[in-house]
Amino acid sequence: MRRHNMTLVTLYMILHLLRLSHCDHVIPRTVWKYGEVSLVTFSATGVSNYSTLLLNEDRGVLYVGAQEAIFAVNMSDISDKKHEVYWKVSDEKQSKCAAKGKSKETECLNYIRILHEFDDETLYVCGTFAFQPTCDYLSLKDFSLQQRNEEGKGKCPFDPAQKYTSIMVDRELYSGTVYNFLGSETVILRGHLRTEYAIPWLNEPSFVYSDVIRESETNLGGGDDKVYFFFTEVSIEYEFYSRILVPRIARVCKGDQGGSRILQKRWTSFLKARLVCSLPESDFVFNVIQDAFVLKTPNWKETVFYGVFTSQWSNLEVSAVCSFNMSKVEDVFSTGKFMQGATFDQSHVKWVRFGGTIPLPRPGSCITNEARALNFSNSLMLPDKTLQFVKDHPLMADTVNPIGNAPKLVKKNVNYIQIVVDRVRALDNLLYDVMFIGTDKGLLHKAVNFDNEMHIIEELHIFSVSEPVQTLLLSKEDRRYIYAGSHSGVVQVPVAFCEKYKTCTDCILARDPYCAWDPQNKSCIWIMKNNDHKNNLLQFLNGNATVCRTKDVESVSSEEHIVEQGGLKELKCLPASRLAKVMWKLNNRALSENSKYRLDQNNLLIFHLTEADSGTYECWTMEAVKGDVYKQLVKRYSLIVEGPSNVITAAPTAPLTQMEGKSATSLASTDKERRSPHTTTSRIQTEGSTSTVFQGSAGTASVPMLIPTNNNDLEVETEIVRRASESEGINSILLFFLVVITLLFLMLVTYNCYMKYLPGPCLKLCLYKVGNGKKPKFDYDNVSEELVKQQSVKINGDNQGSEQIATGDKGYETESDCGNGKIPNAEKPQELKQIQENYSIKSIDPEKDADIKYIDEEAQSLC
Ligand SMILES: *[C@@H]1O[C@H](CO)[C@@H](O)[C@H](O)[C@H]1NC(C)=O
Ligand SMILES: *[C@@H]1O[C@H](CO)[C@@H](O)[C@H](O)[C@H]1NC(C)=O
Ligand SMILES: *[C@@H]1O[C@H](CO)[C@@H](O)[C@H](O)[C@H]1NC(C)=O
Repeated sequence: MRRHNMTLVTLYMILHLLRLSHCDHVIPRTVWKYGEVSLVTFSATGVSNYSTLLLNEDRGVLYVGAQEAIFAVNMSDISDKKHEVYWKVSDEKQSKCAAKGKSKETECLNYIRILHEFDDETLYVCGTFAFQPTCDYLSLKDFSLQQRNEEGKGKCPFDPAQKYTSIMVDRELYSGTVYNFLGSETVILRGHLRTEYAIPWLNEPSFVYSDVIRESETNLGGGDDKVYFFFTEVSIEYEFYSRILVPRIARVCKGDQGGSRILQKRWTSFLKARLVCSLPESDFVFNVIQDAFVLKTPNWKETVFYGVFTSQWSNLEVSAVCSFNMSKVEDVFSTGKFMQGATFDQSHVKWVRFGGTIPLPRPGSCITNEARALNFSNSLMLPDKTLQFVKDHPLMADTVNPIGNAPKLVKKNVNYIQIVVDRVRALDNLLYDVMFIGTDKGLLHKAVNFDNEMHIIEELHIFSVSEPVQTLLLSKEDRRYIYAGSHSGVVQVPVAFCEKYKTCTDCILARDPYCAWDPQNKSCIWIMKNNDHKNNLLQFLNGNATVCRTKDVESVSSEEHIVEQGGLKELKCLPASRLAKVMWKLNNRALSENSKYRLDQNNLLIFHLTEADSGTYECWTMEAVKGDVYKQLVKRYSLIVEGPSNVITAAPTAPLTQMEGKSATSLASTDKERRSPHTTTSRIQTEGSTSTVFQGSAGTASVPMLIPTNNNDLEVETEIVRRASESEGINSILLFFLVVITLLFLMLVTYNCYMKYLPGPCLKLCLYKVGNGKKPKFDYDNVSEELVKQQSVKINGDNQGSEQIATGDKGYETESDCGNGKIPNAEKPQELKQIQENYSIKSIDPEKDADIKYIDEEAQSLC
């Protein structure tokens, strides 16, 4: 039976893969390799792991917590170090740590993990301190530690590799981390108040972020400030073959003081809910939250937060960004249904929606005027019934769904792990949320979602080596920067590289809310830089660059190359946009790929050079945005091939077959090219424009193509077709195999169905098939749903015996529902199946209200 389960899981994943292949593949429009844009960096010799950052914009200082050191650097130029202090672990401590089996050279050091403003003159600092977390105060006057050595247990992780989160709110530290050396106890802690050690509260959480949401100034309801925590944990509400992770948001109220009898020294306001980030059309679920960012607004009801998500099955490299409405989160906590654990046969617990009466004041609420009117002026006064309820029901049944019920961005082949979001007012006076997302390989993606259209403006390689972006911070000052921390150092990245867009068309097609074209100075500029003549600036975030046709007079330099006859020549072309296709022209005629011309990336290779190859070569890009295709001249070469009389030492002409065997680029480098003394001449094109627009095809492809020679421009337009890229080719091979595997599996299912090995829905399907002789509608969506549902059915209908499924639950017994390996009542197999079906639907689908008692009774009657 175990084998069947394996296959079910495999199919489940295959179906997801199949569905995912439909999702859009967003290509960053511009890519800046390391060194192509200038970035300011900070690192100190002998120090690594710069993972904790704190910004104080009033002082203009960025504080950096690294391995055994804390630095203060100038936030406008982080290479300008102001102060430093070292905080090392004694040899004795280090040896003790090593004796406990930890690595002396790496783990048994002091990794600074917490850096917060305590007051105007002090920072609060915590470090792992050789697996003995310790906190201290750092005086800003002389940048020295006060040696107070406070206990850091529950505030700071023991293990530097562990995930954690913390935030200082009104001089009190809120933290989400582990509480013991082994890492088995996890807490959300503030002073003496913490979470209960119970699986329904926290089940192996991996904390990623926390933030405070203040009540609005007008606070009519007398509500409280709230601290939110974001984490991934092992689900208790879904049971599957393996452990299923779920992304969560949890919150506590600032005024919480714990209970007096029940929940003493525990949060009385701890509630959590599931965050949903999935592809609506395919059910693909991103179930691991990697980071979050809260975009605060004066009124918290308008606050939006962003989360980056990946999938638990990490072999699927796909990430998504979802945004959520804080009002909706508060709705779930203040009016949503609770989940209830129902015990079966005194051993197994299943989580279902609670349908009974909820005590008053509502469990888990902050103290409001309403509660105060009932004389519950603080959490210590709350009645036992309320406290007992929240102790048993910390999980909400309602989920928090993303704005628009879909991700803002989905990207394959990356692992997003960090995010910050900047809300920018563009020239159209609208607000745009610009997402800066860091990957595990040191990339920074800058993306915007325009009316459900995903657009990655830039991809930036911010480190010299491929390493994870560990921390991202955004400054809010006028000249904005992103600060990124990593193992090797800190990088200061401007939010935009407008000046890198050289033409009007390029500036507008970038669709960067920070950038606009200045027609007077003919440059792409940062909109916040120049307030005087904002009215003249051109910015069309819909990508409509038609305005550039008349206003643009662009300069394209022409390079003169003199080469010898024979051999080959490579002409380089670097298009500004990865979304553009490249077209090469010789003396104004488009070239097509043949034995004479070949494309390498976007560069043109000319083989068997003869004098007839002399002429003007031009590289054009064609970029389609919303049905308009923009053509731009990127590069012009004037090539002169010298006759045989000059070629005495020319390399022998390599036959084409041989060339194909070798790398074209390496051949190109052997090309005996001479540049004439005055090779580069700049020419300003005055006869109209170098960029033209024509309406029509909206194909977007990143693959360069050559256009048949006899085609004129109008026919060029029709050539814009989507070509399968290499990766798409691989995808289709993958897809083919998946389809084959799926078919094999379906055969297996059919066989098992026929042999009556499978229960419930499948048998129904078989009956349907046999009974009507008709082909049932085979819907992938339904199949996978059914499969998931089946996973929660642990009783097997067949009489061979009952199966046991391992679950990640560790606090509760996980025996089969109907007694420890006992065969369920075989006299009523049909009824049993029916109830299993009902039950599984109820437990997996919180949309349907489940009455616990009812199910309980059913289960009792069965066993
Ligand atoms: C510290 O940095 C080194 C590389 O410099 C890296 O290998 C190691 O994993 C980092 N350790 C932590 C705890 O971040
Ligand atoms: C968030 O929800 C509130 C209340 O339902 C609504 O007024 C607001 O427009 C929503 N905000 C967003 C960005 O969807
Ligand atoms: C609240 O407490 C005050 C004094 O302790 C008492 O006078 C009042 O009747 C109480 N109100 C309610 C609604 O219990």
